[in-house]
Amino acid sequence: MKHPELLAQLTLEEKAQLCSGKDYWHLYGIEKFNLPSIMVSDGPHGLRKHNDKKDKTDIMGSVPAVCFPTASCTAASWDEDLLFEMGQTLGEECLAEKISVLLGPGVNMKRAPICGRNFEYFSEDPYLAGKIAAAFIKGVQSKGVGTSIKHFAANNQEARRMTVDTIVDERTLREIYLPAFETAVKEANPWTVMNAYNKLNGDYCAENAWLLNKVLREDWGYENVVVTDWGAENEIDKGIAAGQSLEMPGSNGLGAKKLVEAVKRGTLSEEALDARVDDIIELLMNANDNLTECEYDKDAHHKVAREIAENSMVLLKNEDGILPLKPGATVCVIGEMAKAPRYQGAGSSQINAKNVDCAYDAMLNEGLRVVYCRGYDKQQNITSLPLLQEAAECARHTDVAVVFIGLTEIYESEGFDRENLTIPQSHVDLVNAVAAANKNTVVVLSGGAPVEMPWEPRVKAILNAYLGGEASGEAVTNLLTGKVNPSGKLAETYPVKFSDNPAYFYFPGSRRSVEYRESVYVGYRYYDTANVPVHFPFGYGLSYTNFAYSGLKVSKKKIKDTDTLTVSFKVKNVGSVAGAEIAQLYVKDNESTIFRPEKELKGFQKVFLAPGEETTVTLTLDKRSFAYYNVNIHDWHVETGKFTILVGPSSRDLPLSAEVTVESTAKDVVIPDLRETAPAYYTANVHEISDAAFEALLGRPIPYQDEDTPYITLNSSLEEADGTPAGKKINAALVSLFRAISGGNPSQEKMMTSMALQIPIRCFISMSMGVFTEDMAEGLCKILNGEGTMQGIGKIIGGIGEAVKGIGPLMSSI
Ligand code: BGC
Repeated sequence: MKHPELLAQLTLEEKAQLCSGKDYWHLYGIEKFNLPSIMVSDGPHGLRKHNDKKDKTDIMGSVPAVCFPTASCTAASWDEDLLFEMGQTLGEECLAEKISVLLGPGVNMKRAPICGRNFEYFSEDPYLAGKIAAAFIKGVQSKGVGTSIKHFAANNQEARRMTVDTIVDERTLREIYLPAFETAVKEANPWTVMNAYNKLNGDYCAENAWLLNKVLREDWGYENVVVTDWGAENEIDKGIAAGQSLEMPGSNGLGAKKLVEAVKRGTLSEEALDARVDDIIELLMNANDNLTECEYDKDAHHKVAREIAENSMVLLKNEDGILPLKPGATVCVIGEMAKAPRYQGAGSSQINAKNVDCAYDAMLNEGLRVVYCRGYDKQQNITSLPLLQEAAECARHTDVAVVFIGLTEIYESEGFDRENLTIPQSHVDLVNAVAAANKNTVVVLSGGAPVEMPWEPRVKAILNAYLGGEASGEAVTNLLTGKVNPSGKLAETYPVKFSDNPAYFYFPGSRRSVEYRESVYVGYRYYDTANVPVHFPFGYGLSYTNFAYSGLKVSKKKIKDTDTLTVSFKVKNVGSVAGAEIAQLYVKDNESTIFRPEKELKGFQKVFLAPGEETTVTLTLDKRSFAYYNVNIHDWHVETGKFTILVGPSSRDLPLSAEVTVESTAKDVVIPDLRETAPAYYTANVHEISDAAFEALLGRPIPYQDEDTPYITLNSSLEEADGTPAGKKINAALVSLFRAISGGNPSQEKMMTSMALQIPIRCFISMSMGVFTEDMAEGLCKILNGEGTMQGIGKIIGGIGEAVKGIGPLMSSI
C-alpha cells in the first residue's frame, strides 16, 4: 500500500464510495484530505470534454478541441517522437480544460480489418502498437495528465462487444493480444488501465482475476487504477476482488452499497478493497498536484495536427513519378470529400473540431490551378450519370485528375463493424469514369481501415490519407505537391480481399462467444506464413526519394537467451530529395518445434536523411525478440537454434539478413507439441481449424457448444431476444425511437441502434441514472421470456432510451 495512514482514516462507506464514479465523468474526491473530485474525458485523438453548458444547436455537445489524426493514421508514422509530441499537445488541452485523465490510447489488435473501431486502434502488430502507445502515454503524462490505455483485453470487434465471450488460448493472448498493453504498462506506466466490456475465457474483463490480478498486477507489476469501460461493470464486488479499482460511470450509490454489503457479509475482504482504494488515493493526489493552469495556442496545435498527418499518411502507389504534382499543372479535383473531408471516426472519440480544413481550399491557397467536380453525394453515397460525366469531361481537359474517395461516415464507427471491405459503389464508379478519361489519375483515399481496391490498376497514384484530423486537407496538399515528402508506412496489411483474412470464418463469432481459432496468425504473421498474396503489405509505403540498405552487422554470431544482441546496418538516401525512411527488423525462427509465424517485427527506426546522406541504425534484441510463450511453464522460452535477422523497408522487402544462434538457458522445458492433435497450425491452414484442433490448442473443451434458444437474463442483450414475439416488437419500437432522436444522421442512428440492441439489460439500470429501474429490468426479462404481459412497456422503452443516451460515446452527442 502506498497510503496506509490515509486509508486508516476512511470509513468503510467512504472507501466504497471512492470505487464508483460520482457521475459520468467525475470521480469522488476526499474532502477531509483536501483532495477535490477530478474529471476524466475521452480522447484519444483530441479532447471530447462533455459540455455542461451546451447550447441546443451544438449537436456535438462537447467543448471545441483540436482534432488530431486517428490511431490507424498516427501508427503509420512509426515515429515515437511524433507520438510523444502529440501526447504533450493533448496534455496541454486537458490541463486547459481541467481534465485529469484522457481516456486513451486504444491498443487493441486489428484481428480483422472490418472491426468498426479499427480507426481508433494502432496496428495488427503488438510490438509496433506497444511502442507507439508508450510514446503517446509518456507525452500526455509528461504534462501531469493521466491516460487510460484501453480496452483491456481481447476486445477486437464491436459486434456484441458488451456480452461476447472471447475464447482464446493463453499463448495467443500473451504473444498477440496482450503485449501492446504490456509494453505500455512497463515502459510508460499509464495512470489508469480501462478494462474491456467483453468476457475473456468465461469472465467479464472487469472481474477477470487472471487478467487483472495475475497478468496486469502480478506479472507486469502494475500498481495504478483499473477503471471499467463505461457500463462494463457486472458485479462490483467481484470486480474489486479481481483487481478492478473503479466503476464508471457511477451507479448512483448502488455500487458503493454493494461493496459495503459484500465486506460486511465477508464475501469481499476489506484488504482487497483497501488495495484498490489505495490506487484511487494515489490517482487523486497525482491528478490534483498536477492540475496547473494552462493556456494553449489553437493555431499552434492545428499545426502539430498537420505535421502528424503529413508524417503518417501513406503513399501506396506512384507510377511514372506522377506525384508530386508538377508546378503549373492543371488539376481537376474530383469528389465531395475534397471539400467535406472525412477526417475522424465516430463514437466516443468524436471531436468537436472547429478548424477543419479541406484539400480543395488548401490547393487553392497553394496557388494550384484547380477546378472542382462533386462526383458523388457524400451523405447518401450515390452518384448519377451527370455527375460522372461532368467529372470525366473535366478530367479530360486537365493534366491530372485527383479523385477523393473512401469510407464515408456510415461505414465506420464505434458500435458496429463493417460488413466487408468495400467503399461506396458510387466512389468506385467515379474512379473508373475518371481514369477512363485521363490516364493521369491520382486517388486520395480516406478511411480508418483497409479497403479492397479493384480499381487500383487503373490509377497511377494512391495517397492513403487515413482519417487525418482537422488539418488533413493541408497535409494532403503538401504531400501531393511535394512540399512534404511522404514517409508513412502501413501499420496493417491491406489484403486483396476480405476472405483472405485469417479470422474470416471466425469473426465476429456466434451469439455468446467468439473463438480465436486462427491463434497467433494475425495480419502479416498469417499472410507471410501461408504465402497469401496481399495488396499492400504490412510496413509498406513509398517516398519521393529512394533508400538503399547495406552493411548488416550483428554483435555476435552466437548468444545465450540472457544476452542482448546488437544489430546495426546502414540506410542511405540515394534520391534527390530529403526524406524519411522507416527501417524494419524482423526475426525468423529457422526451425522450431512449436508452430510460429514466418517472421515477427522486433525493431524499427525512422530516420530522416538529406539527399546522399547515409546513417547507421542500431537496434538491440533481447530474449523476447526470439522467444515464444510456453504454456507449460507459463513463461517466455527460446528454443535453442538458429534464427535469421531480416532488415529492410517493409515486411515483404527485406534485403539484408544474418543468421545467429541463440542458446536457451532454461532447463527441462517441455515444448508444447500439437503436431498430432492440431496439424493445421503447422501449415498455417487457419481457415480450417477443426473443433478438435482448437480444443487441443485451448487445452480444454470449447465452451458454448450447446447453443439453445436463449433464456433472457439481466446479462442478455435485446438482440438475443430478437427471435421472440415480444423481442421483435420492442426492438422495432427502439429502432423507430432512435431514428427519431438521431435527427436524420444515419451513422448516429446506426450506432445508437446497434448499441441499444447489444448492451446487456443490466446496464440499462446503471446507464439511465435511475430512470430504468431494477424492477423494470426484471419485468422486461419476463416479457421477453414470454412470462409476462406487455404492461408498462412504454415506460420500459423510455427508460431504455435514457440509458442509451448514457453510453459513453453517445452521452455528449445527444
Ligand atoms: C468506449 C470507451 C470510452 C467510454 C467513455 C465506451 O463506450 O468503449 O472507449 O472511453 O465509452 O466514453
